[in-house]
Amino acid sequence: MLAKTLYGLEEVLAKELRTLGAQEVKPVVRGVSFKGDMGFLYKANLWLRTAVRILVPLTGFKVRSQDDLYNKMKAIAWEEHFDVGKTILIDTTVKESFFRNSLFVAQLAKDAIADRFRERIGKRPSVSTREPDIRINLYIQKEKVWVSLDSSGDSLHKRGYRNAVDRAPISEVLAAGIIQLTDWDKHSPFIDPMCGSGTFPIEAALLAYNVPPCVFRKNFCFKHWKNFDKALFELIFDKALEKEKSFHYPIMGFDKLPSVLRKAEQNVSNALMEEQISLKQADFFKSDRPEAAGRRGTLLFNPPYGIKIEANIPELYKRIGDALKQHWAGYTAYVFTSSAEGIKHIGLRPGRKIRLYNGKLESYLLRYDLYEGTKKKK
Ligand SMILES: C[S@@+](CC[C@H](N)C(=O)[O-])C[C@H]1O[C@@H](n2cnc3c(N)ncnc32)[C@H](O)[C@@H]1O
Repeated sequence: MLAKTLYGLEEVLAKELRTLGAQEVKPVVRGVSFKGDMGFLYKANLWLRTAVRILVPLTGFKVRSQDDLYNKMKAIAWEEHFDVGKTILIDTTVKESFFRNSLFVAQLAKDAIADRFRERIGKRPSVSTREPDIRINLYIQKEKVWVSLDSSGDSLHKRGYRNAVDRAPISEVLAAGIIQLTDWDKHSPFIDPMCGSGTFPIEAALLAYNVPPCVFRKNFCFKHWKNFDKALFELIFDKALEKEKSFHYPIMGFDKLPSVLRKAEQNVSNALMEEQISLKQADFFKSDRPEAAGRRGTLLFNPPYGIKIEANIPELYKRIGDALKQHWAGYTAYVFTSSAEGIKHIGLRPGRKIRLYNGKLESYLLRYDLYEGTKKKK
């Protein structure tokens, strides 16, 4: 199987997979391949925090023409995998191939599947671009074609808890990956001082309390497969709920805008984390360190970075550096940003810098160890 992820999160995902019990875990670019059975596939869809989707390979072959692709797609026993009444969607990636157009490939593959059903059953499945029951994945490189069933469907960042978002929310998968890239030991407070819709605090709480991130999500494509074992899935789901751990440190989110904070509250409530996460309206530059923050802990935030949000970036980042130095000695602070300009103005020397992508934007996760008397960079 292949779990797909975002650039830079491959090792995090590989570690998650090993911990979950996958066999033969091998990171590749933006993905991790592994072995596991059907029960493991259900478990992986519920538990993996940094997977975007999980593909189950069906077959692979070589093609030399359009007809060749049509015939080989038609030769697959699709009726063994799903009923004709299911809606389908075909995702294609085409690389260095004589097929230049991935839409054309998707159309051809869809015709092959529909013709096979019509010839055998007298009906054809219809295509749906919105929430299809079955997603089929075609990856074509040169003459080689890999055909997989997408077990997840909608991207796994759609956990089911976030329906209220403000400007520039971070993907839940990216947030979960970033948290795991920090050195937060889960035995100390976690604070996001610019929390927006609350993604970092919620993902941190799901991790700290060992709650599966997709526990609130209703739909997975594997539920529409013919071989779906409902009893096994329910067993795995119930077992997952029993894995919750206790956690005794504060997880806090602040934002200066009340309207934004209301959205975070809504999402925290959807995630059933109202008791575990405390949210408060506060301007990072005008607030002292809260007493509950204690002497040491982790600060993680993605400040406005200037693309969607208007702000005076140099001034904003200079103030962030000043506030960290003045109020947060003893803490480790992580700033995630796409603003190269902003980074220059923080004025503190990062102990670590990790390159990631926020959508298409090259971004960095920077670590600042804030000792008593941390020196400003000259
Ligand atoms: C890029 S967004 C954060 C997005 C967030 N990680 C999410 O997933 O929704 C930056 C946030 O910083 C907040 N903000 C900007 N200046 C602030 C300040 N001085 N104090 C607190 N929050 C601030 C904005 O209101 C905005 O919600």
